[in-house]
Amino acid sequence: MTIFVTGGAGYIGSHVVIELLEQGHNVVVADNFSNSKRGVIERICRLAGREFPFYEMDIRDADGLGRIFSEYRIDSIIHLAGLKAVGESVSKPLEYYANNLESTMVLIDAMKTHNVKKFIFSSSATVYSADNEMPLTEESRTGGCTNPYGWTKFMCEQILCDYANAANGCAVVLLRYFNPIGAHPSGLIGEDPQDIPNNLMPYIAQTAAGRLPFLSVFGDDYDTPDGTCVRDYIHVSDLAAGHVAAIKHLDSNSGVSVFNLGTGKGVSVLEFVAAFEEATGVSIPKKTAGRRSGDLPLQCASTEKAKRELGWEAKRTLYDACVDTWRWQKGID
Ligand code: NAD
Ligand code: UD1
Repeated sequence: MTIFVTGGAGYIGSHVVIELLEQGHNVVVADNFSNSKRGVIERICRLAGREFPFYEMDIRDADGLGRIFSEYRIDSIIHLAGLKAVGESVSKPLEYYANNLESTMVLIDAMKTHNVKKFIFSSSATVYSADNEMPLTEESRTGGCTNPYGWTKFMCEQILCDYANAANGCAVVLLRYFNPIGAHPSGLIGEDPQDIPNNLMPYIAQTAAGRLPFLSVFGDDYDTPDGTCVRDYIHVSDLAAGHVAAIKHLDSNSGVSVFNLGTGKGVSVLEFVAAFEEATGVSIPKKTAGRRSGDLPLQCASTEKAKRELGWEAKRTLYDACVDTWRWQKGID
């Protein structure tokens, strides 16, 4: 079985490729390095102890995709490639719609032409509407997204549902990631944002490393136990294992299946900082700042469906994620 992985040099994709190789799958990987570095591919090979075909390309290149799908007997696709910065999507909406929607449609077209039946899509908890009860189940309301990035995920989900509905025997899994954090335990791969990080873990890690002076805690007056926002943080290696479980699920299911990938545990910003300090022994200077526009007080996954139908659940703790991130951060500084 050969799996075509798009965005396989990225933060999550690199962990997914390692997990697939370690579980004995064959992969063909494509990435244009728009948000990743070439060296990642060699590191993945080193960690997995195996080589694999890699193509540096924009996956919107239909001819290029056609050549790959003609050369290899692709059995399934894991589509991680995409632009993902929420703030940037507000200032560059057309780039986000063009990249994220076109790449998905060009891939579906290649899938159709080459009779590939199985597709896994990297979606996000951002597709859920703000007015849901917690925890979020896969049946919670979606839509009402607050930024173009969120809409691209919502629209790609819809496109994939419509395609699966029209195509006979096709199986699609939509994986809604909650907040991925952590790094590979080797310290060789992880997240290295090109600019000042927007997300909490890389911001804390860079503060710990002395690259940034302090963490701004965005709001301490929310209706949550300590007043700071609560999120469901999942270790990227657990997230990667969720993709392997989804590949198995595709073997015996058709139509569209949706799964949350989270831990089911909510952690506040202050609890997160305390866990990082405990795990690393480094104290994080912090200041309370105003609320960040668009932030929800609380977001947490129901993990029941993934446990029941994928036989998957997150195993690693926040402590593990902090230790692994810190090992990675020290390696790149
Ligand atoms: P990332 O930016 O590290 O990885 C994405 C990869 O896709 C990069 O290596 C980039 O170079 C590549 N890419 C982008 N457009 C491409 C194109 N047109 N052709 C070829 N390659 C292209 O991001 P990530 O954090 O690994 O996220 C992976 C996927 O998961 C994305 O679709 C993202 O939207 C989704 N997701 C991420 C998070 C998160 O917090 N990281 C949360 C929910 C969903
Ligand atoms: C953000 C994105 C979401 C995306 C997710 C992926 C927004 C509004 N949402 O979610 O679409 O799917 O990342 O991981 O950008 N925080 C601070 N100080 C900081 C950084 C963050 O206090 O410097 C707080 C935030 O207010 C939030 C929590 O930490 O309460 C987590 O923030 P972040 O890592 O950016 O994730 P989300 O906001 O959940």
